[in-house]
Amino acid sequence: MSINPSWFITGTDTGIGKTAVAIALLDALSARGITAVGLKPVAAGCVWEEAAWVNDDVRLLQAHSRLPVTLSEINPYAFEAAMAPHLAAAALGVLIAFAKIKTAYDALRSRAAVVIEGAGGFLVPLGPEGSVADCCALLQAPIILVVGMRLGCLNHALLTVEAIQNRGLTLMGWVANQLDPHMMAFEENLTTLKEAIAAPCLGVMPYGAPTTESSAWLNLEPLLK
Ligand SMILES: Nc1ncnc2c1ncn2[C@@H]1O[C@H](COP(=O)(O)OP(=O)(O)OP(=O)(O)O)[C@@H](O)[C@H]1O
Ligand SMILES: [Mg+2]
Repeated sequence: MSINPSWFITGTDTGIGKTAVAIALLDALSARGITAVGLKPVAAGCVWEEAAWVNDDVRLLQAHSRLPVTLSEINPYAFEAAMAPHLAAAALGVLIAFAKIKTAYDALRSRAAVVIEGAGGFLVPLGPEGSVADCCALLQAPIILVVGMRLGCLNHALLTVEAIQNRGLTLMGWVANQLDPHMMAFEENLTTLKEAIAAPCLGVMPYGAPTTESSAWLNLEPLLK
């Protein structure tokens, strides 16, 4: 078995910057000469292209992966409907099988460091085999939590941290994503989170960072220890 590292990126909600952070991490690893690849085990919200269901996140992860991979290699489950994955799967009579996800993960990890992007938030159900958290526990990848900095994020962040800790999983670090350039008391909220979360803040992703595609804000060091 390979010793390539891997990280599981989860977030305080859907649409709060998991893909943006995953891409920045892939780019930063690449800049350090580390061959890395993205993995999105379950994607909901896909379009039919070139005889396959294709998801924007998966395309981005593929484009920022140093390892050449096909879309299906990095996305075992792709659903057309942009809805909760267990509902999208059930509507098609599909079981999201964790063994299939583990097989995809192991295949990638034997060749490169793997940056896994979860679906939605940490406790999102994936069907009869469990939730995103259960899938994360199976893969045993240390977690990076993306906090979408907006009103309500303290509660969402601390609930997620508690859920990670209660499962005995490793929170390796977290990212404050500045989704809203006008958030009131941004610095005070940041300080509150730094004091409350017993894992390093890997950086503040500035507003607009996905457009500039800069990963200079990201501190890789705690991840590579
Ligand atoms: N720091 C930022 N500044 C400006 N826009 C941002 C920032 N972070 C994320 N966005 C934008 O917000 C949207 C959602 O981000 P992203 O797709 O990374 O979220 P996600 O958590 O991966 O969502 P999903 O749950 O759908 O996978 C995207 O359009 C992205 O470009
Ligand atoms: Mg995403």
